[in-house]
Amino acid sequence: MKTLVIASSNPGKVHEFENLLRALPLNVRPQPERLEVEETGSTFAANAKLKAKTVACVTGEWALADDSGLSVDALDGAPGVHSARYANSDPERIERLLTALKNCSKREAHFCAALCIAAPDGRVLLEVEGRCQGRITTAPRGDQGFGYDPIFEVKDTGLTFAEMALAEKKQHGHRGRAFTALEPKLRKLLATI
Ligand code: IMP
Repeated sequence: MKTLVIASSNPGKVHEFENLLRALPLNVRPQPERLEVEETGSTFAANAKLKAKTVACVTGEWALADDSGLSVDALDGAPGVHSARYANSDPERIERLLTALKNCSKREAHFCAALCIAAPDGRVLLEVEGRCQGRITTAPRGDQGFGYDPIFEVKDTGLTFAEMALAEKKQHGHRGRAFTALEPKLRKLLATI
């Protein structure tokens, strides 16, 4: 069975992907410990590619990486690829974003998740993106999820990600959509080897 290394040092992400990939004929493994890839790309896709290629090259196996974040229209796409580093903790990141949008009526934003699978010779085998449109609320709502979930209201639902059950977030969410796009392509790819 083909081995696929999850290019992430985040155990939560590895677990999420193990679960999503369970139905596929793959031997899913976490990346080696203490391997940190610096995210120097200016887009989510560039960072996902960088991580997948590096981990595939180091391990000699196919590697799957993802990169995600929140882009706010009125802030010219910020925090974007810097979403994780916008402040030191989730409450501080939320506070900073709400302050940046204080008295601003233009609150449209989207989450993006880019996924990439690369081979050890540096070839990109698959690349997909998933998006979720919404708006930034004026105050946090809900207690599910993580990150910016309490201040991101999903378009046409009236609910923030933090007010949604996991299955509902998966259906509307950027990562769920990216994975839905990836799965049939990955099945096809596995059938050719
Ligand atoms: P990375 O993809 O691990 O670089 O993390 C991106 C950052 O974007 C996370 O640390 C969160 O702050 C934010 N983020 C990504 N996806 C979500 C989400 O589904 N909900 C809330 N915040 C998210």
